[in-house]
Amino acid sequence: MNFKQLTVFSLLASAITLPVSTKAQTPVINIKATQPVAEIQPTMWGVFFEDINMGADGGIYAELVKNRSFEFSKPWMGWKIERKKAEEGDIIIQNRQGNTVNPRFISVKANNITKGELGITNEGFKGMGIKKGLRYDFSVLYRHQKGSVKFHLELLDSKGNIIGGTTLVPTGNGHEWKKEAISFSATETEAKGKFRIWFEGNGEIDLDMVSLFPEDTWKKRPGGMRADMIQLLADMKPGFIRFPGGCIVEGIDLANRYQWKKTLGPVEERQLIINRWNVEFAHRPAPDYFQTFGLGFFEYFQLAEDIGAEPLPILNCGMACQFNTAEVVPVNELDSYVQDALDLIEFANAEPNTKWGKVRADMGHPAPFDLKFLGIGNENWGPQYVERLKVFTKAIKAKYPNIKLVNSSGTDPNGDRFDYLNKELRAMNADIIDEHYYRTPDWFLKNAGRYDSYDRNASKVFAGEYAAQSDKTVSVKNVNNWKCALSEAAFMTGLERNAQVVNMASYAPLFAHAEGWQWTPDMIWVDNLRSYGTPNYHVQKLYSTNKGTHVLTTTEAGKPLIGQGDLYASGILDKATNEVILKVANISDKEQVREINLEGIKKFDAKAKLIVLKNANPEALNTFENATNISPVEETITLNPKKKISLTLAPNSFTVLRIKLL
Ligand code: AHR
Repeated sequence: MNFKQLTVFSLLASAITLPVSTKAQTPVINIKATQPVAEIQPTMWGVFFEDINMGADGGIYAELVKNRSFEFSKPWMGWKIERKKAEEGDIIIQNRQGNTVNPRFISVKANNITKGELGITNEGFKGMGIKKGLRYDFSVLYRHQKGSVKFHLELLDSKGNIIGGTTLVPTGNGHEWKKEAISFSATETEAKGKFRIWFEGNGEIDLDMVSLFPEDTWKKRPGGMRADMIQLLADMKPGFIRFPGGCIVEGIDLANRYQWKKTLGPVEERQLIINRWNVEFAHRPAPDYFQTFGLGFFEYFQLAEDIGAEPLPILNCGMACQFNTAEVVPVNELDSYVQDALDLIEFANAEPNTKWGKVRADMGHPAPFDLKFLGIGNENWGPQYVERLKVFTKAIKAKYPNIKLVNSSGTDPNGDRFDYLNKELRAMNADIIDEHYYRTPDWFLKNAGRYDSYDRNASKVFAGEYAAQSDKTVSVKNVNNWKCALSEAAFMTGLERNAQVVNMASYAPLFAHAEGWQWTPDMIWVDNLRSYGTPNYHVQKLYSTNKGTHVLTTTEAGKPLIGQGDLYASGILDKATNEVILKVANISDKEQVREINLEGIKKFDAKAKLIVLKNANPEALNTFENATNISPVEETITLNPKKKISLTLAPNSFTVLRIKLL
């Protein structure tokens, strides 16, 4: 038992009425433990995934070959042609007419060549993360036009040494495209690997969809996701996953918007587009950032199911990003956009004997995904949004009245845009209003009581994107320090306390590649081989894994703790486990002691669980080298059920205390 964290006073529990000793002057956090005031939705704490910062391609999508189908704006981007002797037309890019989704492929003319004379090397996404002993699965679409050409496949380390490979002799001949696959193991671990194909023989062969995946994908699915990254999400036990964005839903212009129907079916038939984060920030250019859609809507739904999260897809509402072109579809021409929304519900929920239910079933999931929520628009605002939203809402509610619609309240949690939308959406009786806040830690602390005055019986709130900014929004100087994470923890007591109003919340953005990011701060950082959760991740995870089922009125001196004495608190009940869960953020640099009174409770278990996330230094960070610098420390403590509970709160700490009721 750690007496530093939790000590037991020598007063009797029944002593609420007894004479007060010196220690009895300790301020009391009172929890009305037998009077739940509101339900906490199972969806309360979730995650928001967007393909930003190399989140999908080069991130959770485990494909190692960059520009595998030569469809990037510059067809050779990511590739290098290796030639001993230049020969005209030995490798050319072809653009087949009639195929609008994947027109390009390469043609190789092998003129009696041996290994080492002609080849192509792919640099991967900031290199390829290769693990010793792991199997790598190569596949390619090819058309053996003439003669016979074989491939020598080589994994390379950063110095060019071969660390794995094999030889593939394509068996097919003729003018039809065929797929061939072969696997081999890596002999070394390398963070900056490359992949090379040497051609040998005499003949002509066409190649497309040159692909290499590691064996250890999430659930070992071929062509799947990077397991370490998904595991970090699964460990959070998120209540929902919002996808695919974010601004990529809107697009720079309407042509660049996210279109879910184009992300289904065989990967070679999914038409890539430029990722809008490729060009968004001049100070963080990402010329090789594209959306190949190897990860599409089917995979996102499947991911949601895998990690037990409700899927929350967000669809374009007929408006491109208002920070970019602000292009809109005329209100009376929204039909195909609205149809996309109706079809998505059919895709997710209908039986395989329907058009879109069949598409889902043909992709391997005959059972419905049970979609309950759908977002219309990301950060759209103004009357243009409202008039389009009305069209969507009418059509969707007419056909699917039980689907809860998530509406945008714009980019900011206050100001004219927010006030206008908040009023309009509430007048429309919106199901759920999505609020975003990228603000300073101080804003988060000051807003712990934000929802205390929200109408309990009106539209619900989704805190869809939030993160404390150590510098300012979109500054490259933002870091995921402890100060920011602790301010979020403090603020989140207010979300939890107001679970009757706030039904969903998610930090943003989720992932960032150390060499490929556009936006900071981010919850999980990765490189080609490693991944770690920031202090912000641990805050989110602590909330989500200590979610409970009901809000309990929790006060000090009769008021919710929203910063008095530098403390923020919320108390909840978990009816499933019969536990009271108290969360307290102490943002002062001093240790503080509170007596915890479980009002109405006579008996509780002597064994309680105490989880503390802390660091004396508000600037402290987690890093690849010191990934658990700020991470929760959990212990079982022994209480004396006959005595009062005293909780010692470390300086700059977030504490979760779970007490089992008897
Ligand atoms: O999370 C990064 C971006 O911030 C999202 O794409 C957008 O919704 C918000 O402006």
